[in-house]
Amino acid sequence: MQEATTKGIYNFQSAFYDITFGRLVQRRIAQAIGHMDIQDTDFVLDLGIGTGNSLSHFPNKGRIIGIDLSEGMLRLARKKISERGLDHVQLLQADALWLPFADNAFDHVFISHVISVVSDPYRLIREAQRVAKPDARIVIVNHFQSDNRFVALVEKWLCPLCSRLGWRSDLVLQDVIERTGMQVDYRFKLDSIDLWETVVISNNKAALRNDAGERREYAVA
Ligand SMILES: C[S@@+](CC[C@H](N)C(=O)[O-])C[C@H]1O[C@@H](n2cnc3c(N)ncnc32)[C@H](O)[C@@H]1O
Repeated sequence: MQEATTKGIYNFQSAFYDITFGRLVQRRIAQAIGHMDIQDTDFVLDLGIGTGNSLSHFPNKGRIIGIDLSEGMLRLARKKISERGLDHVQLLQADALWLPFADNAFDHVFISHVISVVSDPYRLIREAQRVAKPDARIVIVNHFQSDNRFVALVEKWLCPLCSRLGWRSDLVLQDVIERTGMQVDYRFKLDSIDLWETVVISNNKAALRNDAGERREYAVA
């Protein structure tokens, strides 16, 4: 799915996101943020912050920068920030695949329900690695294709329907992670039947340096 299409889908979904999918994922987001250990002086990047579901769960410290493609989603996040007086949060409309930030700017990167929405999940992780400091924590919450072959087949079959809703159901975690050369520290689900999982990664800058050729390829695409 291309970013222009995604933007349109989420501008439309912003009207009911918080009372549908947004409500469903609150507990998972809270638990994932709990694994970030944010300190007073930390810079935190929330990639694809959407309507700001995460804002109820970030501690009231550090600086939180949220970016998103969709102005409709950002409008709702902005409303939450002003209603709750969250002066430590800033929002920016930007493409997570081409981040307008310097290298090594952030202590934590949060990627919640976004990796299967973008056109290039690998590039998204690469950008997160680039802007995150060495050993920064990258926390991903997402649905990944099941290890169970039957369930994986159903997920593939559902993929065209999911694309219309703005995400894909057949993303394989291992494929994305292996290409980035990063190590998953640990991963967990809310419970055994949860369809989404949280993946915690420590940034590996060495893997990024080894990939200079591939990054050049993206620049001309
Ligand atoms: C399913 S929502 C998740 C929102 C929020 N992170 C959450 O967990 O509730 C996906 C969000 O990613 C945003 N998004 C998709 N592609 C993006 C991109 N390339 N750059 C920035 N944001 C993007 C969409 O606009 C949407 O707000």
